[in-house]
Amino acid sequence: MHHNHAERASSAAASLAATSAIGQSDEPCIEFVDAAVQRNGRTVWSQGSFSIPSRSVTAIVGTNGTGKTTMLKTELGLVPLSHGKVHVLGCRAGQANGRIGYVPQSYSSEMDSSITVAQSVLLGLTGTSFGIHMTSRSQMHACCEAMEFTGILDRSQMRLSELSGGQRQRVAIAQALVGDPSLLMLDEPLANLDLASQKATVQVLSRLNSELGMTIQIVAHDLNMLLPMLTGAVYLLDGHPHYAAMGDVLDAELLTHLYGTNVQVVTTPQGDMFVTPHAKMKTDEVAKESSA
Ligand SMILES: Nc1ncnc2c1ncn2[C@@H]1O[C@H](COP(=O)(O)OP(=O)(O)OP(=O)(O)O)[C@@H](O)[C@H]1O
Ligand SMILES: [Mg+2]
Repeated sequence: MHHNHAERASSAAASLAATSAIGQSDEPCIEFVDAAVQRNGRTVWSQGSFSIPSRSVTAIVGTNGTGKTTMLKTELGLVPLSHGKVHVLGCRAGQANGRIGYVPQSYSSEMDSSITVAQSVLLGLTGTSFGIHMTSRSQMHACCEAMEFTGILDRSQMRLSELSGGQRQRVAIAQALVGDPSLLMLDEPLANLDLASQKATVQVLSRLNSELGMTIQIVAHDLNMLLPMLTGAVYLLDGHPHYAAMGDVLDAELLTHLYGTNVQVVTTPQGDMFVTPHAKMKTDEVAKESSA
């Protein structure tokens, strides 16, 4: 996961609390132009044409194997396109990785659990070569800010092996954001977290977006937790990625199609929207309901 660290090291002095994406133009953050990707000779998805605005929070949804992780990897230039173009932060995919923070789906297995929390976060600035060069004061400062932001500063001297899954996940996010990225990509960051940890993570992401103006892309299977901050979603359906701004996305029929199971969208009196699995109603029950 340290593919972008070498580039990042050059901007190591950048502080988390600094400008971040604020002040950027309103150019789209991510642009797909008739993009397609193949893996092992098989097309994963094709005809992806959409743009995702800067400072947005976008979910990537789709059933297992539809190519969500592959999509993040094409944006990082790690998986080549078989057709079309992808631009990220105004550059060709892979050219702006120094301004992207990435939390991979399998972050835990990729972490060396014998190092400390602080050392792990520092890797987000120095790449894999930590220990060889001195840590500057500004680098330490950036690390502390990132750890404070994700709520793990008080555990900075603990080894990763001593942390719970949810705490490690905060380390992974701190490592991704310590380089003050303009774009933060997270691949299923809420999986395996208890409800409280999910809420805490969503809160961190929400603050990164609203306070620092970070553009966020997040792969998720359950949108409920994310709904309050989501501005749009890319849904992988029938082998094609589609982007829709919120509102459009929460169409029960579309979601049902997307998840391969019946779901319904519920709006509470407070105006919050929820997506719930919904036992398939028999046709006559539906008829009864609609005539009631
Ligand atoms: N390293 C790889 N080499 C070859 N094919 C791969 C590789 N990784 C994934 N694929 C294939 O690409 C397709 C999309 O995989 P991807 O991991 O992007 O799906 P996903 O939507 O992230 O799934 P999940 O919800 O299970 O994480 C799958 O058919 C998979 O078999
Ligand atoms: Mg995946």
